[in-house]
Amino acid sequence: MTNKNRKWLLAKRPTGVVGPEDFDLTVEPVPSIAEGEFLVRNRWLSCDPAQRTYMEFDSYIPAVEIGEMMVGASAGEVVESRHPDFQVGDVVSGAFGWQEYAVSDGSPFGGLIPPVQIPAGVDAPTALSLFGITGLTAYIGLIDVAQVKAGDTVVVSGAAGAVGSVVCQIAKIKGARVVGIAGGPRKCDMLRTELNVDDAIDYKNSDVDARLGETCPDGIDVFFDNVGGEILDAVLAHIAVGARIALCGSISGYSESQGRVPVYNAFNLTLQRGTMRGFLVFDHLDRAEAAIGDLATWAAEGKIKNQIDIVEGLENAPSALRRLFTGDNIGKQLVKITD
Ligand SMILES: NC(=O)c1ccc[n+]([C@@H]2O[C@H](COP(=O)([O-])OP(=O)(O)OC[C@H]3O[C@@H](n4cnc5c(N)ncnc54)[C@H](OP(=O)(O)O)[C@@H]3O)[C@@H](O)[C@H]2O)c1
Repeated sequence: MTNKNRKWLLAKRPTGVVGPEDFDLTVEPVPSIAEGEFLVRNRWLSCDPAQRTYMEFDSYIPAVEIGEMMVGASAGEVVESRHPDFQVGDVVSGAFGWQEYAVSDGSPFGGLIPPVQIPAGVDAPTALSLFGITGLTAYIGLIDVAQVKAGDTVVVSGAAGAVGSVVCQIAKIKGARVVGIAGGPRKCDMLRTELNVDDAIDYKNSDVDARLGETCPDGIDVFFDNVGGEILDAVLAHIAVGARIALCGSISGYSESQGRVPVYNAFNLTLQRGTMRGFLVFDHLDRAEAAIGDLATWAAEGKIKNQIDIVEGLENAPSALRRLFTGDNIGKQLVKITD
């Protein structure tokens, strides 16, 4: 084991789209552990849009301080342990941050994300995507929050991304008609050919309002929203009676927190007796076992594909995070630190 720990620190509060200029890479000695702690060698980092919000303001966790390590979920191997529940050789996931070596005492990061053992037979990329927060968010949002049912017309924004791609596939499994909204022809082709959605709308090259009217003539029963802003507003104008909207995220506003766009069509919720509900996956971790059980069954049956997008090297973590905001990722964006 090397005695050096490379670590990304937050250099400044970002303005606009996040990028390498917002971080500093430092090298420190590998930390030592005390009684009740274990040392993880990080092998994979998860890139999540919420990390952009952690860099700027307090949310369900406090903002990262300037000069402090960038927070983030990751997976790796226990290489030293003085903790009764974590042994050397265990493969674990948790919020171990943007660094090569992390010390944990086993407590949940921010009171939210506990370190967990990755079961034998599950690889780390899958544990960070389909069987991790990504898959759980898709499952909870669509099944528990939006209460999808067979015959529903389901529209998904950010449909070719990590959460969105899983939502599209669960909705198909549940017997819904699925329309995905994504940026660019490559993503829309992927939605049609690989995820078998019924229709795809390229929001960068078409009139979303007109396309929704055309492809959802009887209205939208469920909207799973990853994006917010203008797309949310366009969908609101097309909801059916009794529509359920699950507000998962609002990435269109994360880089422009001072200039978010207004939503004009909320009154249609009243006219259509619809509901719009925000949710945080961390409030639903009691559903993880059931959700991951179903996701694992569907994956084994070939009904669900796990889409992952890999950038190599801890040194490229800031550029990998940026890809979420430029739309370069397809499926779950991961950073591979080492095999
Ligand atoms: N509520 C929760 O507990 C919870 C948990 C996890 C994630 N989330 C939220 O779920 C959403 C998706 O997260 P993810 O991890 O699956 O990320 P992701 O969808 O894999 O990546 C982000 C995608 O967002 C799209 N995007 C970026 N800027 C956009 C803009 N201005 N307008 C429209 N689309 C834009 C891009 O796709 P295009 O190329 O199609 O533009 C990009 O690929 C995020 O809002 C995230 O914060 C919420």
